[in-house]
Amino acid sequence: MKVTVVGAGAVGASCAEYIAIKNFASEVVLLDIKEGYAEGKAMDLMQTASLNGFDTKITGSTSDYSKTANSDIAVITSGIPRKPGMTREELIGINAGIVKAVSASLIEHSPNVTLIVVSNPMDTMTYLVHKTTNLPKNKIIGMGGALDSARFKYRLAEAMEAPISDIDGMVIGGHSDKGMVPLTSHATRNSLKVSEFLSEERLSQVAEDTKVGGATLTKLLGTSAWYAPGAAVSGLVQAIACDQKKMFPCSTFLEGEYGLDDICIGVPVILGKNGIEKIVEIGLSDAEKAKMQESAEGVKKTNGLLEL
Ligand SMILES: NC(=O)c1ccc[n+]([C@@H]2O[C@H](COP(=O)([O-])OP(=O)(O)OC[C@H]3O[C@@H](n4cnc5c(N)ncnc54)[C@H](O)[C@@H]3O)[C@@H](O)[C@H]2O)c1
Repeated sequence: MKVTVVGAGAVGASCAEYIAIKNFASEVVLLDIKEGYAEGKAMDLMQTASLNGFDTKITGSTSDYSKTANSDIAVITSGIPRKPGMTREELIGINAGIVKAVSASLIEHSPNVTLIVVSNPMDTMTYLVHKTTNLPKNKIIGMGGALDSARFKYRLAEAMEAPISDIDGMVIGGHSDKGMVPLTSHATRNSLKVSEFLSEERLSQVAEDTKVGGATLTKLLGTSAWYAPGAAVSGLVQAIACDQKKMFPCSTFLEGEYGLDDICIGVPVILGKNGIEKIVEIGLSDAEKAKMQESAEGVKKTNGLLEL
């Protein structure tokens, strides 16, 4: 199992670290455009191997895609992150060019690769990869919902003063401050609806805090977060690498599901060795359906800025 991570910055390195610590991949290649940067991160991470007890071999490369040849899975984190006050959509100008070029180079050296898109605005970058490469749609996966769901569970646990392991919940829709749809009506604590524990008002506050989860951290850190994004990506990579058939909300190309067409947006999917093995259609309330439609309109507006 060979995994390439393009972009050895905050998210890419965190992702490589979590993949290595979980010890399921034989090789992780980190690639960056900055001279020596990926090699340095790879060497530093390899020096944690004896301390953290993993056997995954991590190597680095400066823009040499031959080192990524025959990757089973590749993660695209290259591009600029947002600064405090910025929206993810504002990154499109720079990141679209980077994601387009990076995905083409990856596929040239690994024609059977499964791509996980992380660079923002993620749903639009996933759509861009869908429109500009010939990969089948099950092999193009956008990561956003897994992270947003982890943030949702964190906020639910905080509100209920409960351990996070008691909580289950999911965020679908676009990966943006306005577009996320935290499914409060489906969230549970040990199979009981969270509405048994929290007032409607407190639940809406949890949903709002979840939606601005990234912006809250960007304000505190001065750049976007990396630990939870890296961990979320590693979860998707492991589900595919180990054929786990796990369900995550991921951005995927829809053709009629959820009443949506010609768009990549977050919905629950089953991940296994074939990438996205199934799109799961769940029953949504009228309010959730309306939020999903509104979210899709936002993503389509951003997609409209692409020069395809
Ligand atoms: N989808 C999500 O849930 C999620 C979460 C967090 C961050 N992000 C996004 O991930 C991206 C990376 O964030 P970060 O914090 O790691 O940024 P960062 O600046 O720390 O790292 C980005 C890296 O990409 C490299 N890079 C730029 N152009 C490249 C190219 N053409 N080829 C190879 N490498 C190139 C840069 O040199 C840099 O090292 C941003 O777009 C950010 O918004 C997405």
